[in-house]
Amino acid sequence: MEKLLDGIEEILLMGPGPSCVHDKVYEALGRKSLGHLDPYFIRIMDAIKADLRTLLDTTNTLTIPISGTGSSGMEACFVNLIEKDDPVLILINGVFGMRMQDVAQRLGAHVENLEFEWGTPVVVDPVKKKIAEKHYKIVAVVHAETSTGVKNPVAEIGDLLDGSDTIYLVDAVTSLGGMPIAMDAWGIDALYSGTQKCLSCPPGLAPLSFSDKAVAALEARKTKVPNWYLDLTMIMKYWKGATRAYHHTAPINMHYGLYQALQLILEEGLDNVYRRHRHYHDELVAGLEGLGLSMLVAPGSRLPMLNSVNVPEGVDEAAVRSTLLREYKIEIGAGLGPLAGKIWRVGLMGHTARQENVDRLLEALKTILA
Ligand SMILES: Cc1ncc(COP(=O)(O)O)c(C=O)c1O
Repeated sequence: MEKLLDGIEEILLMGPGPSCVHDKVYEALGRKSLGHLDPYFIRIMDAIKADLRTLLDTTNTLTIPISGTGSSGMEACFVNLIEKDDPVLILINGVFGMRMQDVAQRLGAHVENLEFEWGTPVVVDPVKKKIAEKHYKIVAVVHAETSTGVKNPVAEIGDLLDGSDTIYLVDAVTSLGGMPIAMDAWGIDALYSGTQKCLSCPPGLAPLSFSDKAVAALEARKTKVPNWYLDLTMIMKYWKGATRAYHHTAPINMHYGLYQALQLILEEGLDNVYRRHRHYHDELVAGLEGLGLSMLVAPGSRLPMLNSVNVPEGVDEAAVRSTLLREYKIEIGAGLGPLAGKIWRVGLMGHTARQENVDRLLEALKTILA
């Protein structure tokens, strides 16, 4: 019988996620499984909640990892907060804003969009105008739009909603652990993320946090949450209090991995982690420009962890990616939607954001493009 696992090569993950995983996280994933109600496992759950609060700069009690990838966090936020016909405004400038729209529409919400050109950030003035004209139950935006490499003005949008009863929902899948997030100070009510980007843990969990306002909206629902698996009213009972009620079996070893990944970030120090992302982003951009390449996004709106590089005229972008993977064991990402064929997406997420990785990619690109 073929032993497929023996054929797995070590690939330098410099795409839009998953990112490189620290050996200590791999080691954590391989620890012996405990029962999902074992008191020792509950201690690990409690530590994860506390560490996530630190990363998010929040005091929200309901701060937990949801089973599943980032999309399960997205789905969990919308499915718990939306009831049929609720007015929802989504700010869209890339694939993940569009995905939010799709999720909200499937739940029967009245979804309106404000769309902005891909590769540019959400502009605050039209949002201000829109929310002055109409009351929305939810306003949603992606912090770090992974499909374009654009940072959206999450704090400024939060200011617009200050004092209103609108729930402010933010996708922090790519931003968490790579750039500052101040959930409480920015007025964010519901936020989700994923483990496989700047947390540098394999895909499988989706950190989520709800403010008291979001929890109150959940508790005030007239109808049951229409999705059993993601129903936070039940999941909460497993994550809080002295008696933990079984809902579904937690993916135990994924939690070990997340616990270790969070420890590594906190040991390095959040400011150092953010500075490291910014530093290697600057190095990468300088190196790419030195090779005659240009960036899609204007400097002030660039994400440190996701770098969109314009594919030069006449270059076969897919051939470059495939040579990088085949010959140099480096993965980078392609463009999506209207940017397909036009950009490469280079990730510097979490443990990937290191000098040797930037150097290795620049060397490889230099040879290939020559
Ligand atoms: C901004 C953003 N939101 C949501 C997702 C969905 O996450 P996942 O693919 O882990 O389900 C991604 C994945 O790339 C993302 O980048």
